[in-house]
Amino acid sequence: MIVLGVESSCDETGLALYDTERGLLSHALHSQVAMHEAYGGVVPELASRDHVRRAIPLLEQVLADSHTDLSAIDAIAYTQGPGLAGALLVGASVANGLALALDKPVLGVHHLEGHLLSPLLSATPPEFPFVALLVSGGHTQLMCVDGVGAYTLLGETLDDAAGEAFDKSAKLLGLGYPGGPAISRLAEYGDPEAYQLPRPMLHAKTLDFSFSGLKTAVLTLVKNHHTHLCEQDKANIARAFVDAIVEVLVAKCLSALKQTGMKRLVIAGGVGANVQLRQSLNAAAAKKRFDVFYPELALCTDNGAMIAFAGAMRLQRDPAAARYEYAFNVRPRWPLHELQPAQTS
Ligand code: KG4
Ligand code: ZN
Repeated sequence: MIVLGVESSCDETGLALYDTERGLLSHALHSQVAMHEAYGGVVPELASRDHVRRAIPLLEQVLADSHTDLSAIDAIAYTQGPGLAGALLVGASVANGLALALDKPVLGVHHLEGHLLSPLLSATPPEFPFVALLVSGGHTQLMCVDGVGAYTLLGETLDDAAGEAFDKSAKLLGLGYPGGPAISRLAEYGDPEAYQLPRPMLHAKTLDFSFSGLKTAVLTLVKNHHTHLCEQDKANIARAFVDAIVEVLVAKCLSALKQTGMKRLVIAGGVGANVQLRQSLNAAAAKKRFDVFYPELALCTDNGAMIAFAGAMRLQRDPAAARYEYAFNVRPRWPLHELQPAQTS
């Protein structure tokens, strides 16, 4: 079965073809980062309009790259939510319009389920069950994953998401948007002894997170600096920030593994691309003897491959999930725990 995946929940248009027998056939992505950069963040209306421009050329690209004919597509999966309403509507329209024209079924996919399952696309995929840390621009959640759709929330952020903390702190240091990769690169040159930032909720009994205080601590450091921040000062603050957030994320993962008795940890979402987080988790995994799995770097941030894959997983387990009615809605707010486990056929 060949599934076309369409992702358009935020500022990336992603299309991909996943074959349940041959694996990922092709995927193509257009990032709108350059367009939104001037505004310091995503402008929803501009995002929607750009998805309109990019979707069909990207479809043509994935078909050409994999030498696949449009008629070979068996089903179309699209991101139904959560995300920006206008942006989601573009992907949903493209998917439903195409499915109607091709007389093929459609399926709305939960964006976070896409992220969660994306490590299964890598060369050494994890087996179920596992603990998953989902760290993206909009979400920070620890979950117990027993199978496709069987997700139990263990803990989540009470305020800012991890990616949001990276982006906001980077902005305070004048690093532009999105700040995650930039603050991470700068931190490499920072002196770890220069500043100490708080580790929010490190010793709390729950598996919840809180990152807004960390961002405020960065703001205070920047404000208290009476002279102009030189590059080394910025690198030192970046280092303090990265050390603090990584320590909290790793500690909570270890607690989640201990609490569930599991030995497999999966990291998903944009912040999963972070090198300091990966280094620290790898060191902890070697020391505490558990296995840690990441999506391929290109599939950490938003992409169509994870949507095609999540759609294919659901359709394989529950063929009745395929929809031949092309009226659609999107769900800009959609808690992951509302998802039902996929039926096993
Ligand atoms: O998963 P994603 O592409 O989109 C959402 O669903 O939100 O995640 C984007 C987030 C942004 O906040 C971005 O700054 C962060 O992931 N990010 C990183 C890195 N690469 C992306 N944060 C830290 N280090 C990185 N290397
Ligand atoms: Zn995402």
